[in-house]
Formats: sequence, structure tokens, C-alpha cells
Amino acid sequence: MLKSVKRQLPVMALAAAFGVMTLAPALAADGKALFTDKGCVACHGEDAKTPLQEGFPKLAGQSAEYALNQMMDIKSGKRTNGQTVEVMKPIVAELTDDEMKALADYLFSLREAPTAASTAPATPGKTLFLTKTCVACHGKEGKKPLPGYPVIGGQDKAYILAQTKDIKTGARTNGKALAMQPVMHLVSDDEITAIAEYLSTVK
Ligand code: HEC
Ligand code: HEC
Repeated sequence: MLKSVKRQLPVMALAAAFGVMTLAPALAADGKALFTDKGCVACHGEDAKTPLQEGFPKLAGQSAEYALNQMMDIKSGKRTNGQTVEVMKPIVAELTDDEMKALADYLFSLREAPTAASTAPATPGKTLFLTKTCVACHGKEGKKPLPGYPVIGGQDKAYILAQTKDIKTGARTNGKALAMQPVMHLVSDDEITAIAEYLSTVK
């Protein structure tokens, strides 16, 4: 007994001396575990890209900076459009900043290796995506956004439609939405529908 305590003493002294350094990694929030433990899987899917229902967003591979900002804006009440208030707010209300950061980093880590450029024929939606400036900020096929801007290629169709309309009408003004709002006069509702159709089919 005594012997084993003695043997542990140097280790304990070391742990005390480097307490902060050795404890910090052990306590760091684990995004993957949080995604399950906090119930995110129920609505966004175990793989973060199989949402429970139409109109719920896919999150896998999303920009970490963007995802973190959205969680913070939903928590603080800056983003109130769509289903954010009823559905997402109660969930993020329980999360600390560190947990949200770990979750956002985990979601970004789920991005897939780039596939060969799509050879799909041009559809009206694809042409609109290229000609109505969307590509300038959201990147090729909506998957290479400017830093902090969202990935929208492969997103749920109803979700794309709802968010684009909300940014157009000003129902959503949080984060960097005001960067996008000024070009929304370029697209009619029918054109937004065609673009959402195209983006949702991007692999
Ligand atoms: C009860 C269902 C539900 C649960 C549980 C849930 N979410 Fe959501 N989440 C939603 C819905 C619905 C939206 C879209 C809100 C809207 O309509 O604008 C959303 C939006 C988001 C967004 C913004 C997406 C974007 O593209 O802007 C992020 C990030 C997010 N959720 C992360 C999480 C994380 C992380 C968890 C777990 C801690 C979680 N959600 C739990 C339903 C849910
Ligand atoms: C000048 C840059 C810019 C242009 C052009 C632009 N967007 Fe955006 N878009 C943004 C930014 C920035 C956001 C994120 C706003 C935020 O921080 O909350 C966004 C958000 C979105 C979202 C919501 C994503 C989510 O996960 O909730 C959709 C959908 C979208 N844009 C579609 C489009 C479409 C369709 C077009 C072309 C008609 C377009 N955007 C043109 C900058 C742009």
C-alpha cells in the first residue's frame, strides 16, 4: 500500500506542476461524442448528412467558422428565421462556447475528398448558379466557398430554398447574410427553385 503510494508520488508531483498542461487535453470537448450525446444525431442524422426531414440542413463538411457562427447566432437570438427558434434554439442554449467550437470542427472534419468534376449536362439551375453570381461566393458547385461562407452544394433542397428566400426578403440578416442580400434582386422565386434543385443534386 505505502509502497504504491510512494511510487505514485513523483507522478503526482509532475501532474501538479504541469497541471494545466496535462489536464487541458483530457478536458477538451470531443465534437464527435458531443454530436451524439447532445442529440444532434436525432435531427441532422448520425452521419450529419441524413436530416430527419425535408427542410432540415445537412451539416457534414460545412465550414467550421460558418457553423460556429450560426450556432452562436441561434443561441444569442441573432438568427431567428425559419425553424431556428422553435427547433434549434433549445439545443444550442445548453452548449458552451467550447462545445460549439468542438462540434463545428467535427462537422468540418466530415468533408469528403473532392470528386472528379461533374460531367452532368448543364441544367437551368446550374446555368443560373453560374450566371447569377452565386458561384463567386459559394465556389465551384457550391462546395468551395470563400472563408467563413457556407458550403451549399449537396444541401437539402427545401432548406436551400427557404434560406435563400429568407436572405432575399431580409427575414435572415445574421452573420454575413448582408453580403449576399444585395445580389438577390437578380433571382426570381422560380429561379431560386431551379438553383436549389441543381444544388441539392451536387454530390
Ligand atoms: C430537434 C431537431 C434538431 C436538433 C436536435 C439539432 N438541430 Fe441543428 N438545426 C435544426 C434545424 C431545423 C435547423 C435549421 C433552422 C432553420 O430553419 O433556419 C438547424 C440548423 C443548424 C445549424 C445551422 C446550419 C446552417 O447551414 O446554417 C447548425 C450548425 C446546427 N443546426 C448544428 C446542430 C448541432 C451541433 C446540434 C446538436 C448540439 C443540433 N444542431 C441539434 C434542427 C435540429
Ligand atoms: C457576395 C457573396 C454571396 C453571393 C453572391 C451569394 N451568397 Fe449565398 N451566402 C453568402 C453568405 C456570406 C452566406 C452566409 C450568411 C451568414 O453568415 O449567416 C450565404 C448563405 C447562403 C445560404 C444559406 C446557407 C445555410 O447553410 O444556411 C444559401 C442557401 C445561399 N447563400 C444561396 C445562394 C444562392 C442561391 C446565391 C445566388 C443566387 C447566393 N447564395 C449568392 C454569400 C453570398
